[in-house]
Amino acid sequence: MAIISSKAKVNEILERELKVVGRSVHIRFYPMVVERGEGPYLYDISGKKYLDFNASWAVANVGYGHPKIVEAVVNTYKKLTALSFTTFSNEIIVELAEKLVEIAPGGFGKKVLFGHSGSDANDGVAKMLPFYKKRPRIVSFIGSYHGQTMGSYSLSGHKAQSRLIGLPNVVKVPYPYGYRCPFKGIEEQSECEEACIDFLENYILRTIAPPDTISGLIVEPIQSDGGDVVPTSHFLRELKRICEENDFLLVVDEVKVGMGRTGKMFAVEHSNVEPDVLVLGKPLASGLPLSAVILPAEIADAPEVSHLFTLAPHPASAMAALKTIEVILEEKLVENAAIVGEYLLKELMKLKDVHEMVGDVRGKGLIAGIEIVKSKKTKEPGTRETAKIVYRAWELGLLTAYTGIHSNVIELTPPLIIGKEHVDQAIEILDQAIGDIEKGRVPDEIVKRFTGW
Ligand SMILES: Cc1ncc(COP(=O)(O)O)c(C=O)c1O
Repeated sequence: MAIISSKAKVNEILERELKVVGRSVHIRFYPMVVERGEGPYLYDISGKKYLDFNASWAVANVGYGHPKIVEAVVNTYKKLTALSFTTFSNEIIVELAEKLVEIAPGGFGKKVLFGHSGSDANDGVAKMLPFYKKRPRIVSFIGSYHGQTMGSYSLSGHKAQSRLIGLPNVVKVPYPYGYRCPFKGIEEQSECEEACIDFLENYILRTIAPPDTISGLIVEPIQSDGGDVVPTSHFLRELKRICEENDFLLVVDEVKVGMGRTGKMFAVEHSNVEPDVLVLGKPLASGLPLSAVILPAEIADAPEVSHLFTLAPHPASAMAALKTIEVILEEKLVENAAIVGEYLLKELMKLKDVHEMVGDVRGKGLIAGIEIVKSKKTKEPGTRETAKIVYRAWELGLLTAYTGIHSNVIELTPPLIIGKEHVDQAIEILDQAIGDIEKGRVPDEIVKRFTGW
């Protein structure tokens, strides 16, 4: 009885939402109304508990409701409910900037620009690099996702963002997606990287985008929304070399994979590359709005009044970030992400062995992608099947979402606090969900509303 009435309540809330909230603000994979979160779990309004392998899109790195963070945020907010850092300074915010400069890779004189979201952070990149270098163009990658404000939207190369036309100064080049290399006949990840680097260096830079028109190149170390594509560590080193040789800046967007997720505090550290600009967001303040661009001081200082947001950052967000960093270090979550992530990948490989629909599995630390295909031989993307697996896993108590330029990669980004027992539980559910879809147990009708983004 209680379940029936909570289902009715879910439908009622979603119907009300549909009437008053624009559809362009969400992508949904199942009809879930969340009530609360604790550790690696979310609870819906019926009280049902779900193991969250999405972590609100890689935000809840330290899990939900960490007492240390909650207490510090509440106390900070009680003291000061509003502050415009544009005009008034605040020690918590200064302390956070000092901490970020200290932990970010790179020995250059750095400064921090704060904002609310990954989108506005990358918008800063889109504005400031061409201004500083006096060169209009920026290079980015097909399949990338950098945000939804005009500048960050323009930098992005995701299929879902191909309907609106962005700014014309961004040159988009292929990302080394080894499983589906854009260059025909190449199946190996490292060969695909070589081909992509060669295309950029010896074709694009010699034809439509001469280096002296380029101010920077922006890259995700793992192209997550593009399908959780994981290049080798060599790829970033090659990009760094090209940037250095041609005198433009390397911008690394770690909005999703930064803050410990890949088994290093920052994913660039796997390549031993020092980015000129590092972009952070999402997990930085454990769910409160906060972004940070960490970049050379001379770019951060000019032009004046060019990255100014009345509410960024709120001292409570800055406090949340300071405590998040503290928790990540104290609880050794970076190390945990590496250890549990390796186990996760190993277990996912077993799913690949037993399920015809699992075409590829890839990941680093606690970010992984399961690429769903209609058959291993043809590699035809199983877009509808992916939506069904994600939906079925939700029914079985596991939260995931899908990504990819063909909407066929199940993305796993659990909180970094999970242990092997959580991986076992997730794998068991995924195994059953994939098996159920293979056996045709989930009708197409059910995921009609939830297919494709
Ligand atoms: C790599 C990357 N950059 C930027 C963004 C945009 O961040 P936000 O949604 O906080 O604006 C995202 C969001 O998914 C992302 O994954």
